[in-house]
Amino acid sequence: MEEEIREIQKQAIKEANQAETPDHIEQLRVKYLGRKGLVNRLFSELGSISAEEKPKVGNMLNSLKNSITETLSEAKSRIGVARDDLKCERIDVTMPGTKRPLGNLHPLTQVTNRINEIFLNLGFKIAEGPEIETPHYNFEALNIPLEHPSRDAFDTFYIDDNTLLRSQTSTVQIRVMEKEKPPLQVIAPGKVFRPDATDASHSFMFHQVEGFMVDKDIKFSDLKGILTLFSKQMFGEDIKMRFRPHFFPFTEPSAEVDISCMICKGKGCRVCSHKGWLEILGAGMIHPRLFEMVGYDPKKWTGFAFGMGVERIAMLKFGVDDIRLFFENDLRFLRQF
Ligand code: DAH
Repeated sequence: MEEEIREIQKQAIKEANQAETPDHIEQLRVKYLGRKGLVNRLFSELGSISAEEKPKVGNMLNSLKNSITETLSEAKSRIGVARDDLKCERIDVTMPGTKRPLGNLHPLTQVTNRINEIFLNLGFKIAEGPEIETPHYNFEALNIPLEHPSRDAFDTFYIDDNTLLRSQTSTVQIRVMEKEKPPLQVIAPGKVFRPDATDASHSFMFHQVEGFMVDKDIKFSDLKGILTLFSKQMFGEDIKMRFRPHFFPFTEPSAEVDISCMICKGKGCRVCSHKGWLEILGAGMIHPRLFEMVGYDPKKWTGFAFGMGVERIAMLKFGVDDIRLFFENDLRFLRQF
């Protein structure tokens, strides 16, 4: 019997080591420790053993039972740990990756970049000026004297008598001409401010791109050529342009420039108020008085200038019908561009 006990012990350890699932362990438990298992069978055979042998064999049987119990519980936890390890190490290589949300440029930045790009390709360079200005650069140097009625057209936020938020980027014309000598080909993108009541087409802050060129013999036809090229590159080859006479204090002659409505192709629709045309910018030949102001000889130099609203161009290009959408930071709107 002692021999048999040792055999069973060995066998149990071997089988427990080979067990791979909790089910295997359970089968071994039934086989060895179950009510009709091997260990109980041996216990029931104790009765047929001699009185001297009985205590020793009884002890051996007890330690067999304990040792098998222990072996099985060790095997059980070995399997459990292995399974947990597997669980956390499992990598499903077929799973889709985690998407990192990618932002995009604001539609106004995109349009400004496009305007800049078109003019850079034509040999213009980019200049910037301050948003906080003096009345001199915003008005006087642009031939808008104090008390001149056209000053109202450029209604302005004043900080104090001699400081204001610029209401137009034409200021940069003066700042660049003061510092540099012709020939000049410059565009000046930036923010401007006007105390307008906010509605679908007005905002107290918006963006303009000013452009100008100064050289010998610059003619109105040069202005027309450059702006026609610009509008075709911005809006498409089949866009038409027209120049309407207008007044600006800093240019003479001056014009407002329209493009044919890209929605109805000039037939007339809601977007163009049934006119077939959309105003996109103001332009003209730089007034000789501006040249005098910056010390250029107006007999020697001529030039053209133009100014466009970035929001207006973005609205036409993208079909946006409310300027406020650009500034509300609503991602549902911004993600569309
Ligand atoms: N500064 C004008 C505005 O803010 C736009 C403008 C018109 C600019 C005619 C020009 C120009 O350079 O020649 O409304």
